[in-house]
This record gives sequence, C-alpha cells and structure tokens, in this order.
Amino acid sequence: MKKKVEQISFKARDIISIQDLTREEILYLMEKGKDMYTEEQSGNRYTNSLGKKVLFHAFYQDSTRTINSFNAAMQELGGIVRGFSGKEGTSVMKKECIRDTIVMAEATHADIIVMRHPKDGSVQWAADVAHVPVINGGDGTNEHPTQALLDLFTMYLINNDKLDNVNVGIGGDLAHGRTIRSLCAALSNFDDITIRWAADDILGMPDDVTRCLKKRNVAVIRHKQVKDVLRQVMFYYMTRPQFEMMSGNPVENQKKILKLLDVYRITLEKITGHNFKLMHPLPVNSETREIDYQVYFSAQQHFFTQAENGVFMRKALLDEILEGTIYERFTGILPDEIRIGNNRLKRRIKARRKEGRFIDNIHGGIVLDHLMPKTEDKVKETLKLACGDCDIISAYLHDSDKSFVKTSVTYLDERGLKMVCMCSPDPTVNIIHNGHVHEKYVYLLCRNDNCITRVLEEDVPPRFYKDDGNIKCRYCRHTYEVSNPNMAQFERKHFLATLPSSVIPVGK
Ligand code: NCD
Repeated sequence: MKKKVEQISFKARDIISIQDLTREEILYLMEKGKDMYTEEQSGNRYTNSLGKKVLFHAFYQDSTRTINSFNAAMQELGGIVRGFSGKEGTSVMKKECIRDTIVMAEATHADIIVMRHPKDGSVQWAADVAHVPVINGGDGTNEHPTQALLDLFTMYLINNDKLDNVNVGIGGDLAHGRTIRSLCAALSNFDDITIRWAADDILGMPDDVTRCLKKRNVAVIRHKQVKDVLRQVMFYYMTRPQFEMMSGNPVENQKKILKLLDVYRITLEKITGHNFKLMHPLPVNSETREIDYQVYFSAQQHFFTQAENGVFMRKALLDEILEGTIYERFTGILPDEIRIGNNRLKRRIKARRKEGRFIDNIHGGIVLDHLMPKTEDKVKETLKLACGDCDIISAYLHDSDKSFVKTSVTYLDERGLKMVCMCSPDPTVNIIHNGHVHEKYVYLLCRNDNCITRVLEEDVPPRFYKDDGNIKCRYCRHTYEVSNPNMAQFERKHFLATLPSSVIPVGK
C-alpha cells in the first residue's frame, strides 16, 4: 500500500460529510480497502485487534446493510458492537433526546458511534455532544458519506484503481435520496467526471447539487430518456423512491411514482446490449420494483458486490479512526461549546425612536420587531404558549408594512425564540430595561424544515459558519439568506466576521 502522506490522518475524526474528505484522503481509503479486498480474495481475512474497542450504533431509522456492514467491519477488526436499530425498545420512545442518548452511549463505554436519523444535521449534533468520534450512517435527505465511499470503491475496483474519467448515470429518486447527494459530492473530487440523468422534475437532480457539481467542473447532463443515459455510461446508479422523505399525501405520492416508474424502471429490455455496471445502494422496493427481477440475473448487476464492498471500506475507515486512540475515562460532562448558539446577529441600537409606536409605553419586556406582515397574531398566540399569561400587544403598521409584538415577558428561552422564528423568520428581538433598548439582535434559525435545529425538543442551539461569504447552518449546511430588509450591510458583515470559517469539531 502507498505510504500515507503526512497530512492524511483519520485518527479520532468524525465522518459527517463526504465534503470533509479530500481527494487524497479518499484515494488513501480506496487503497487501504483494496488491500483488505485482496486479502479476502486470497482466502485471508484482514483482522486487527482494536483492543476490544466498542462501536455503538444509534440507528433511529431502519437499516439492514449499513448497520450490519459496520458491525461486521468492527468485529472482524477485533472490536465489539452494541446499540440499537430502530427506536422501538429504546428510551427514544419515552421522548429521550439525541443529546442524552449519545451521552448514554458514552456512559456505556462506546469508543466510536455510528448514527442514522431522519433529520438533516442530526449526526453533526451528535458529534458535537460526543467526546468520541461519530460517523454519519445517513442523516435525513442530507448525506451518507460511508455509502459514497463504498460506491466509489466499487467503481475504483472495476475501473482499474482509478476514479478519474468516469461516466456515471444516476436514476430513480434524485430529489430525496442522501446517497446520491454524497456520491455526487464524492465524485466531484476527480477529473473528467460526467454525470447523466433522466427523471421527471419531481424526482430530478436538486438545483443546489447541480450548481455545486458544475462549480467543481463536473459535466452534468440531463437526458430525456433513460435509454439515452444507459447507452453512454460505465456505471448506472439506480435508487428507490424515498417515500418517507416526500411531503404531501403518501397514497397520492405512491400512485404518482408508480406511474413514473413505468418509464424509469430498469428492465431487461432496457439494459440489453449495454455493458455498464448496474449499482444501487439498496434496498430495492419490492412493491414499486425500480429494478425488475430479471435484471438480477444479468451480467450488469453489481449491487450485491457493491454491498460487500461496504465491509472493506468500513473496515478501512474504522481501522484508521480508532488505531492508536487512547481510552478516555467517562466524565458525564457535556462540552461547554454546545451550551449556546452563535445565531444572534447583533443590531445597532438607535438612540432615538419614533414617538408613540414602539416601546414607549413599556418599561421592561421584549419587543419582537420586523415580523412578517400579518404574522403578529400568530406570534402572539405562540408567545402565550411559550410564556403563559403575560401582557402582549400585537400591531401591524399599514404605513410601513411591518408587524411587531410588545410583551411584558422579560425572558424568552431558545424554544420560545425558535417558535417565534417558525411563525416569522428573522425576528428582531429588543430586550427592554428601564424603558431603554438594552440589547437588540436578529435571531437566526435555519430555514430547512428538516433541519435538526428546528426540532424544539432536541434543543440544538442554532450555529452557523461562513463559507465563501455565505452564512451556512452548521448542522444541515444549507445556505442561510437573512431576509430582514432593514439589515444594514455592515451589521451582516460584522456578524459574518464572528463566524468560524468551517465546521470545526467541538468537544473532542
Ligand atoms: C440507503 C439509505 O439509507 O439512505 N440505504 C443504505 O444505506 N444502503 C438507501 C435507501 O434507503 O434507499
């Protein structure tokens, strides 16, 4: 195996997004995986003694492959596995939050945690809580980095140990699948990559993925028909419709998708005469049958070996992350960095205010300003829920098209502030003491409805980082646009300057 260049180290690292890995790091893992693969082929299984280190799997969503692949990898390396797959039978059913579940994994001596969860950014949150490394086994519609590694590894083995100059077709549900997101990002590290796809708009490639790929010089080509894609690719990566991630009526969705699959299904007839390799992260949905049964017996079928390749890739990764890590005694103390967010965009406090409208008639309390027109009553009701009985006056000023709410509440906790944000994004919070504005900030909460920061009971403090002048959510990594039209440029700029420039690990 090639010698590891100095900068490459996976020791004790979290694996949250495939975007955090460089081309060199990916290729290093490919080579290490290939060594393990070769040993297995020659009848010698690669083993190691990870000193009986413990892998804890916290899978809030169903899994057959990922969980067993991680378990096989860990056990073959001499480690031990425990955890849960599916919420039933755990205290998640008693409303235990992610934070406490993760601390419990550590309390029962986990050396590494693999987590899967339906919310975007949830695994980054677990990594922020944990003192041990955390691997993302799939978060919402967001990412599945180890799946991307094993997908690349499958291509690498077939393509004579190379990942440049690869022509891939992708199909099925491009819009809601996390495997496609991670695979596309992973491929974008390599040269001369072409991605072809044909799908209906509702299942099509998300615009943000296409934009990112183009920025990284990947050719993304949309075709009218699947057969045009199949003619020109080395690999075709099919995926199942992700019904559980679709909004709207499930019965209607099922009907609509079944109809679309009549056009997009992979059948023997479609693949005959082509020699691409057919991949799929699995599972295939046996009801909708995005891959027809006859195709299973074709020479193109590569998805079962693809699944086995996951064991080599995960072995390579676990070996690298855990080798040489030192056991640290459990303390039960949470990392201090997760106490609060960095989401308060400070605003300038004006010395004078217009008479008779704003806070003049309250001495102390909170005024929520710059609410979206006509949301003031909803905010008022929300505050009643969050704060109980208190004086609340809501107003809508027709001349300025703005709403605000004056309250005698002196303290609004994070859940209360998030509830307000969900009624009207970017509220300006004015804390009034002795008739004066004492503090004034815009409370930013990620706009992605599936982001973990929007789940009140999880109490994830919203955190942002800056990337290329953009504000991005630390958890789901979606770009955040501040909507407040009154925001001065310098206030936004000042806020950006306070943000970290990457998703730096905390608490490790
Ligand atoms: C995928 C997932 O969970 O995202 N499964 C897997 O890990 N192989 C794909 C899917 O469920 O469709």
